[in-house]
Amino acid sequence: MPTKVEKDSISGQDTTGHEWDGIKELDTPCPKWWLYTWYACIAYAIGMFVVYPSIPYGKGYFHGVTGYSQRKMVDADVGKLVAQRKGSMDKIAALSFEQIKADPNLLEVAMTSGRITFAENCQPCHGPGGGGNPGYPALAAGAWIWGGTLDDIQQTVTHGIRSADPDARQSAMPRFGADGTLKPAEIQAVADYVWATFYGHATTGKDVSAGAKIFAENCAACHGDAGLGNRDMGAPKLSSQVHLYGDAHDTIVNQVTLPRQGVMPNWGARLDPATIKAVTLYVHALGGGE
Ligand code: HEC
Ligand code: HEC
Repeated sequence: MPTKVEKDSISGQDTTGHEWDGIKELDTPCPKWWLYTWYACIAYAIGMFVVYPSIPYGKGYFHGVTGYSQRKMVDADVGKLVAQRKGSMDKIAALSFEQIKADPNLLEVAMTSGRITFAENCQPCHGPGGGGNPGYPALAAGAWIWGGTLDDIQQTVTHGIRSADPDARQSAMPRFGADGTLKPAEIQAVADYVWATFYGHATTGKDVSAGAKIFAENCAACHGDAGLGNRDMGAPKLSSQVHLYGDAHDTIVNQVTLPRQGVMPNWGARLDPATIKAVTLYVHALGGGE
């Protein structure tokens, strides 16, 4: 229990009244410099509360007398940039690919926009730099399924492949195994033939003539006698080192049994025409453009 406040006989200062074993606690005031700094901090904090957004209430908050908002500042900066860019993007939308390529400044804007668009929208499927992933074609390899001119790429990107767009590129490899058109042994035989002859894997003296016959009757109409593919049918070139689904024998068996028929989204529904042109120029320049 605090005892009566009294003066300390030695220092002459008040005590707090606390005493332990005869030792009394002096009531020393805070140093002035500390006290005034503290008051200044309180005054500064109140000032900041009034000037800047501070106290939350319900769904909103007190905006402060200045209405300061970093979001608004970013929006304003982005708005300025968009306005600056708009001129260029309008030009890209209006001009032909040849005209854009003839204007170095415009081409640079298009390539920058294309690179960003590709990273955001295409890379998850087609891989960095268009290197491809199993099921998603390599765009840099020059092994085009549907065509690698600027116009071909623009068409593919705008309308997609097997997408919901009425102008989408369409093609359907038959479900030879799932529909029972070919028996499992025939599928193995034709896969042996494709793997040895077109994919270029040495067979250990296997006779693939049965597979060759099955190929001529069932596959050549789309993939060509020499496995060169057919762009009108979207049938990939088989005599190649670049394969949509990979190089393994199993992938051929699986594809003939139940084709995957991959879908490429129709970007015309999500990107404006200028952005599609820009990403087309970027894809074309990845290394495989025709
Ligand atoms: C959801 C995955 C996916 C995304 C995202 C995607 N694609 Fe594709 N893309 C595909 C598939 C699958 C194919 C191959 C379809 C087929 O023919 O079997 C394809 C094919 C293509 C082709 C045709 C290649 C050829 O050999 O003819 C081009 C060009 C292409 N994509 C460009 C793009 C661009 C540009 C973007 C981004 C704006 C993009 N893709 C985003 C899945 C995707
Ligand atoms: C109607 C045309 C058509 C016919 C007939 C056809 N294909 Fe295909 N084939 C395609 C298309 C389109 C694709 C690519 C898209 C998909 O279906 O996944 C493909 C893809 C493939 C692939 C994958 C190629 C790669 O790069 O990974 C193989 C292997 C293949 N076909 C083998 C065959 C064999 C073997 C036959 C005959 C038994 C056959 N195809 C008959 C259209 C056809």
